[in-house]
Amino acid sequence: MNVEQRYRLVYKPLVFVASLVPLAWLLCGAFNLFGASLGADPVKKLEHEFGKTALNFLLLTLLVTPVKNLAGLPHVPRLRRMLGLFAFFYVVLHFTVYLVLDLELNFRTLFADIAKRPYITIGFAALLLLIPLGVTSTNRMMRRLGRRWQKLHRLIYVIAVLGVWHFYWQVKRDVREPLIYAAILAVLLGYRWFRARARATSKSVSATVPERT
Ligand code: HEM
Repeated sequence: MNVEQRYRLVYKPLVFVASLVPLAWLLCGAFNLFGASLGADPVKKLEHEFGKTALNFLLLTLLVTPVKNLAGLPHVPRLRRMLGLFAFFYVVLHFTVYLVLDLELNFRTLFADIAKRPYITIGFAALLLLIPLGVTSTNRMMRRLGRRWQKLHRLIYVIAVLGVWHFYWQVKRDVREPLIYAAILAVLLGYRWFRARARATSKSVSATVPERT
């Protein structure tokens, strides 16, 4: 099996199934199967778990490039689109639980929350920014947008910052967990910043070194 086939036939299906495990486990909890349970406040539990899973997928998506470079795995970006789409999927589930089960489809409360509760405003902004990324994730859109596609998909950095910020702001007391997420995100974004700087420096050095004649 060559690398292309290995990714298509083994790794991608494995990542796909593994990405559905959090959803499957929460569904088991909803129906009290295999000892899983959603606890005393099932709506809060679903809201929290979907929110956290969405954030985990956002960070996993950002982890792909460092893994590719540092572990020498040039083909691992083939999994990035799927991870990003699962981030979107879990954010949509998180929002749906909030809107349908928590607010019982009361759109007036939704808009009031977006206007008055800063952590909801930020979360909602992140959801809106994820939509164009989801819509343009097909090969066709990638080809159609060309270089603009890459620029557009840099929004993922902003979305991840908003996601962690949203998490931090909704915590009432113990901020340790969101701070751990913030630290991981800082490392992932810092890595990109250093690489971009190093590339820019090496470009300007090679431009100033006179060519040997
Ligand atoms: C990229 C988008 C988003 C991400 C990554 C995200 C992530 C999270 C995370 C990690 C939590 C904390 C879970 C926990 O405590 O264990 C959370 C809580 C919450 N999020 Fe989001 N979220 C996003 C968008 C939204 C949107 C669009 C809404 C609604 C408009 C929303 C509403 C809430 C609510 C109501 C809570 C629970 C607050 C509480 O416990 O009182 N989130 N979110």
